[in-house]
Amino acid sequence: MMAHQVKVGIIGGSGLDNPDLLKNRTERKVTTIFGDPSDILVEGDIDGIPCVLLARHGRNHSIMPGNVNYRANVWALKEAGCTHLVVSTATGSLQEEVKPGDIVILDNFIDRTSGRKQTFYDGEKKSPAGVCHLPMEPAFCARTRNIVINAAEGLGIPVHKTGTVVAIEGPRFGSKAESNMHRMFGGTVVNMTTVPEVVLAKEAGLCYAAIALATDYDCWRSTGDKVCVTDVLAMFKKNVDKVTKLIMAVVIRIGRENWDETITELRKTVKDSVMLH
Ligand code: ADE
Repeated sequence: MMAHQVKVGIIGGSGLDNPDLLKNRTERKVTTIFGDPSDILVEGDIDGIPCVLLARHGRNHSIMPGNVNYRANVWALKEAGCTHLVVSTATGSLQEEVKPGDIVILDNFIDRTSGRKQTFYDGEKKSPAGVCHLPMEPAFCARTRNIVINAAEGLGIPVHKTGTVVAIEGPRFGSKAESNMHRMFGGTVVNMTTVPEVVLAKEAGLCYAAIALATDYDCWRSTGDKVCVTDVLAMFKKNVDKVTKLIMAVVIRIGRENWDETITELRKTVKDSVMLH
């Protein structure tokens, strides 16, 4: 069997949507059966590995987390031929040892969003047929996560190798009581976008890894600043070169490997999860 041609979709979160990441860029406006993605797809390559860049909130950051069309974003990247999604996300730290500026390679999530569309198998005529009960362990692609961890090590960038993100609905930040509850849940960081993005990526059969940058300590600490959007963006800006460098190294490492077995296994999991009548 021919090796799957890998193509890496990169979803840039708040602070990361620099198209200069890619060489030989072309822009393409697309739509999907689930509506329009957040913005144009920027196609190009990193060291010869084909990539597609999409700004999660739109290039001018005009779409709030609850209004992002996650289904259209993931579907568009899948239709563009992506096999992998490597994404960045700004997060608030729920643990003392995860300091603002630190990177966490997420390996689990707790869903505190409400009413977001989390499946492509929604019973609509235009949608894929059946009802999909997809297992969420592992939620993130273990092999791609390992690549991120190894790439970071290769670059001398320290990372927290695991972490649970609590995804809240937003757009407001959490209250102090909520922040403490999220800590009691066992959360490492909090954001507003990993759910349903990670869920849909798995349903689409894509290898998904998320690089979470801690931009603040949310608001649970008795001393220190409480999260505000200016600080989140400033902290992301301060660390954007580190995250960009890491993504580039990850793409190159992904491109060096054969993903046939991983992709086949992931697609089988999805297929086995769909109940047809
Ligand atoms: N994104 C960045 N910081 C955050 C926080 N404290 N809560 C939710 N989302 C965030």
